[in-house]
Amino acid sequence: MSGINYSEKIPNNVNLSGDRTLQRALEHWQPNYLQWWREMGPEASQNFDVYLRTAVSVQPDGWANFDHVKMPDYRWGIFLAPQDGNRKVHFGENIGRDVWQEAPGEHRANLRRIIVTQGDTEPASVEQQRHLGLTAPSQYDLRNLFQVNVEEGRHLWAMVYLLHRYFGRDGREEADALLQRNSGDQDSPRILGAFNEKTPDWLAFYMFTYFTDRDGKFQLCALAESSFDPLARTTKFMLTEEAHHMFVGESGVSRVLQRTAEVMNQLKTEDPAVLRAAGVVDLPTIQRYLNFHYSVTIDLFGADQSSNAAIFYSSGLKGRYEEGKRADDHQLKNDTYRVLEVVNGELRDTEVPMLNALNEVLRDDFIKDSMAGVGRWNKVLEKNGIAFRLTVPHKAFNRRIGTLAGIRVSPEGMVLSEEQWKLHEHKWLATPEDREFVSSLMGRVVEPGKFANWIAPPVIGVNRQPINFEYVRFN
Ligand SMILES: [Fe+2]
Ligand SMILES: [Fe+2]
Repeated sequence: MSGINYSEKIPNNVNLSGDRTLQRALEHWQPNYLQWWREMGPEASQNFDVYLRTAVSVQPDGWANFDHVKMPDYRWGIFLAPQDGNRKVHFGENIGRDVWQEAPGEHRANLRRIIVTQGDTEPASVEQQRHLGLTAPSQYDLRNLFQVNVEEGRHLWAMVYLLHRYFGRDGREEADALLQRNSGDQDSPRILGAFNEKTPDWLAFYMFTYFTDRDGKFQLCALAESSFDPLARTTKFMLTEEAHHMFVGESGVSRVLQRTAEVMNQLKTEDPAVLRAAGVVDLPTIQRYLNFHYSVTIDLFGADQSSNAAIFYSSGLKGRYEEGKRADDHQLKNDTYRVLEVVNGELRDTEVPMLNALNEVLRDDFIKDSMAGVGRWNKVLEKNGIAFRLTVPHKAFNRRIGTLAGIRVSPEGMVLSEEQWKLHEHKWLATPEDREFVSSLMGRVVEPGKFANWIAPPVIGVNRQPINFEYVRFN
């Protein structure tokens, strides 16, 4: 087992002190990171003691320690899953050979690009969420937000380590640039669209952590298959942390639904206006939030047909979700995949070479996984005797990337004219009025065990602590 060394300035399990040049370069980057955290991280939180988990091992069980920590003192570090000396390339053209411990020259530019794109999303989400602490519905939720934030910060560290260690000067420059781009910035925005959207309220936060952190899961799973072993090992450990982020989203939306259902039953009404007046989020508004976050997130998988995706796969840089569990030749040269195309204004299935469609393959895996959770949300409504059901919109709905970007499609999958779209858009996507209403509900609740009116308490506390535990000491 590779233990984590916490006696060093930068905690790590990669024997950082054995490489003084690298250690110095990262120690030089560290104050810039902390400055970024103070300026762009959770607003007005520097002095709070937060009940956070910190990784103490990379073994699946017992890897985390929980304690009250001031966030700027959180021990962000570099933790890779243990190396498997016998690991072989298991897909693409180099199948069967030893995995790479260094970045091969011919794949360097592509690998760097993959790592930078992943790395860019991590601090972006912290920036998007930086005001949310001011309106947390409970201490429990505030703590979860901060947990997600510090771990996204650590994911940035994970990618910056790879850049510094394996990509020389270019890597160091890219690592600096990761702190210079900012979410939503006019001049230097984050790389991917969804990471420049605002996360203005807690319903948006739960949708984001459910859908967009799940995009993170699928990207990390695909990278955990990589033939570049340090990338595979890094992302494997990141996935351990990621699971909690999606839990925050899934349970958060469940609790909003639970509370709305309770008030619907108390007042015996489905009328959004009455429910809003009672201080809960009506179900059609929740559906419109879902439609927005889902459609923006599935764009993150990229164009449905992509020669880059084919190159990344064939050269062994990025696999499929659960590549190792699939029973095919892991080359895919003779395989096809069905994607949507637009012909004369109609959506139609078409068969294309699978290698070019690997973004779509990953997107479809994501879609399956996200639908399962939406089913669990509907169980909350069912249990409360509510007939309304949430649905996932059609894949072509509200897309900005790929073949489907040029057309208007309803959540049911009907191709529409621009006029028809305009007429209905307010029923399908959260409107400024919806957002204004939701934001009117956001008021800070600080007393342990108390929750805002629009959300139900969780079923259990963090790390088996009671729900009224003091998760955040505000000092
Ligand atoms: Fe992350
Ligand atoms: Fe995450």
